[in-house]
Amino acid sequence: MRLLITAGPTREPIDPVRFLSNRSSGRMGYALAEAAHAAGHEVLLISGPVTLPPPSGVQLIHVETAREMFDAVRTHLPGCDTAIFSAAVADYRPAHVISQKIKKSAGTLTLQLERTEDILGSVRSQFAFHGFLVGFAAETENLIAHAQDKLTRKGCDLIIANDVSQSGIGFDSLENEVTLCLPGGQTVPLPRQSKTALARELIAHISRLSSPQAPK
Ligand code: CTP
Repeated sequence: MRLLITAGPTREPIDPVRFLSNRSSGRMGYALAEAAHAAGHEVLLISGPVTLPPPSGVQLIHVETAREMFDAVRTHLPGCDTAIFSAAVADYRPAHVISQKIKKSAGTLTLQLERTEDILGSVRSQFAFHGFLVGFAAETENLIAHAQDKLTRKGCDLIIANDVSQSGIGFDSLENEVTLCLPGGQTVPLPRQSKTALARELIAHISRLSSPQAPK
């Protein structure tokens, strides 16, 4: 199968030297890309800025902002069978990018932010994607309820939910512990393990669930 995977954070510029971003390392998405390639799939990885080496055998597209990731997904999604959205896309960006470096002045500075494009949320409605759609839900409370809500709202076939309030897993960690949330309220907890081992397990689940004979 041909898979599109988004990974890493996005960076939203404030001025020529500053940006808004988050702690995503990109490790989960890169591990998924490696595992999918190792399982014999064709992989296109759309990545925000990370310090990881490019996975071998994977087509890699670098982007910086949510807008660039949105455009890259829209361009490359046609022809893909499965899309996995593991990127930690900024939900807001500065409404105005200042063309010169902001100089210090008063004691406080107010930035006005505007919503970025909801990439995963556009896949069914705007991009008319009919393949197998996988999203991530990083939550600090009511994990399963929020994940099930995201599954329905964004038209996903699978949400991989992780509790980011626990230290040592999820954002910027080597390990992760997730629960698979499927349509109909079914959940499958996967034990805490390295992101590399978890990625292999996730790709096996996704291959099985997305195959035409899979029970829905
Ligand atoms: N995502 C995306 N584009 C965005 C924001 C998120 O594609 N602008 C994707 C992420 O890659 C992830 C999923 O959406 O797969 C969940 O992101 P999250 O920010 O948790 O979801 P939201 O619906 O924005 O919900 P919340 O209100 O919790 O922020």
